[in-house]
Amino acid sequence: MEKYPKTVRMWIITCLLLILGQAATENDRDFKMCGTWRHGIAPRNLKYDLKTGCKEIEISANETTLSIQGSITAKCTQSSFINLESNPLQNQSNFCVFWEPLLDLLIVEVNGKNHTLCRSNGFQEDCCTDLSQDQQENAGLYGIVNGSTHGDIISYEVKKIYNFKGDSINCKKKFCDEASGANMIEEVVMKSNTTGRLDLPCAQSTIIEMKEDFTGLHLTLPAPGNVPPNLIPSVYLPSCLKSKSRSISKVVCTYYKDQALFQGASNSTILNDIVGLSVENEIIKNLTEPVKIKFHHSALPANYSRRCVSWDTRQDNDVNWRSDGCETVEIHDTETECHCNHLTYFAILVEVKQKATVRHLKALTFITAVGCAVSLVSCVVLFYWLCKRRGKTQISLVHRGLVVAIFLLCLFFILTGTMANLTNKVVCMITGSLLHYALLSTLCWMAMEVFHTFLLIRKVFDTTLPTWIFYLVGFGLPVLPVSMLLLIGDIYGERKIVPIDDVENPYLMCWMVKKDKSLLAHYLVNVGLLAVVVSSGAVMLFLVVREIRNRPDWKKIHVAFLSIWGLTCLFGTTWGLGFLDFGPMSEAILFFFCIINSLQGFFLMLRYYALERMKKKDRSFSDGSSSGSSKQHMLQTYEKS
Ligand SMILES: *[C@@H]1O[C@H](CO)[C@@H](O)[C@H](O)[C@H]1NC(C)=O
Ligand SMILES: *[C@@H]1O[C@H](CO)[C@@H](O)[C@H](O)[C@H]1NC(C)=O
Repeated sequence: MEKYPKTVRMWIITCLLLILGQAATENDRDFKMCGTWRHGIAPRNLKYDLKTGCKEIEISANETTLSIQGSITAKCTQSSFINLESNPLQNQSNFCVFWEPLLDLLIVEVNGKNHTLCRSNGFQEDCCTDLSQDQQENAGLYGIVNGSTHGDIISYEVKKIYNFKGDSINCKKKFCDEASGANMIEEVVMKSNTTGRLDLPCAQSTIIEMKEDFTGLHLTLPAPGNVPPNLIPSVYLPSCLKSKSRSISKVVCTYYKDQALFQGASNSTILNDIVGLSVENEIIKNLTEPVKIKFHHSALPANYSRRCVSWDTRQDNDVNWRSDGCETVEIHDTETECHCNHLTYFAILVEVKQKATVRHLKALTFITAVGCAVSLVSCVVLFYWLCKRRGKTQISLVHRGLVVAIFLLCLFFILTGTMANLTNKVVCMITGSLLHYALLSTLCWMAMEVFHTFLLIRKVFDTTLPTWIFYLVGFGLPVLPVSMLLLIGDIYGERKIVPIDDVENPYLMCWMVKKDKSLLAHYLVNVGLLAVVVSSGAVMLFLVVREIRNRPDWKKIHVAFLSIWGLTCLFGTTWGLGFLDFGPMSEAILFFFCIINSLQGFFLMLRYYALERMKKKDRSFSDGSSSGSSKQHMLQTYEKS
């Protein structure tokens, strides 16, 4: 089968490219010619005669000799012969000739064994490429059958000689133009067999050999001349990168200038610098010490966040940026370090995204602060009332517990803003955990209010639980999740809330940091507990209404009763919502939540006052009335709410 003329082939390719709309380039830079050598049974050899230049290469074969000669190399001049292992029973051998002009690398494979005729000599500027088939010469018995280039059969017949002509071009440029991704560059750099620096128009690589005594290495990447030295990314390779099973491992670090190689799915911007890292023939996982890559960049606006992402080019052919495996360390406004603990071939960069912003943050902060202050005072007053009251029933114990918990919650909520501005990480972490403790404690005491209602409804007034159980659940239980999260680490810390109208001055608070881990903890612990309290509160309200609906005096007080219970449920449960992400909430709801949440202590006091008044009224009303006892029972029922 005769091959299509080159021009026709190019047309077909161009059309295909237009149809497919993607750069599936026919890569003519490198050359691969394979065939089957029909030879005799006598001892054989591989003869070669290679010179510099760009004329042609001749691949020929006869009974005893496979011969490669011509002038296509940039620097390599070699001429000699190699005696091949000859099996007298074998009368043919498969062979391939590989030519990588970018590296000046020529390899001949015969019967599965590679013979490197020209060693790689770094990246070549001018090189002989686009080898196209020129003349062939037919032969009789001995020669080459099934000759093919890049897998396309040229001829099934026996040929004595194949001739290929080349063009001299700028190989580095062609390579960069053709490279369809970072993985391709990486592959060629690995093959280059050199150490030290290799430059391409689109990337600069450093190849390092890690020997037995490798103890870690700080490395400033080579960069194009126009990048100021203090802006070039630097890399730290830890000693654990060197695998014990090999005496020498090669690491390639590449600095990419050309972002076009990385444009992919990510819709967020990436910073200019991209670093590629890989260890030869090795998949590196779970490093005990991470590889660190430090990027320098211009200061980002406050409403932007940065994140280290990586693309495992051996796993995904398409650009696919992932954030797992790398940790982002914001050293400075203009410096970001990526700590990565696994790599196969990684391209690492810093992705920049606009943060979620909140409108009217100043107003919200103000409202919340005032509300919290009012609540603090209310809690103190209410606590005083509750203590003064004689007959310390269990329910007043639960009320007092809730008052203390809400007091702490308001106190820490006010404190957290101040603490965050101290910029002391440990202090902020502790304040964050205390705030979380107060929130959980509040939710626990609310759960106990609900539980107490349950006891009342089931008419098990007489079963009084020991006091310490209430304290243990209300104040002791929340210690558990908080200390667990503290042990896990990296959960509590500074959280920035960015106002939309003043992005440069974010509101700082000490709470859970914005990370996947703490988000998970938030959903499991806070939202989980909140859901339990809300749903059990709703069930309890339903039960209470059903229980007392048929009482004769129900009509008189049911409005007050329902409103008290309803408000309790609402106030009692919205606190947690305030800590949910602000993002999807509409502004009106946000304001509403802030007001209600911060005034919770105040509402608690109002509720208590209302109950107290109703009780007094009821008492005077019930004097001399026949249904005194049932009323007394109902009072206790209010009481629990
Ligand atoms: C085979 O070719 C080589 C050179 O290409 C030549 O030296 C040798 O004499 C040839 N052998 C035969 C048997 O023609
Ligand atoms: C010989 O080298 C070529 C080109 O680098 C490579 O593709 C091939 O797998 C090698 N063959 C063997 C047997 O190592």
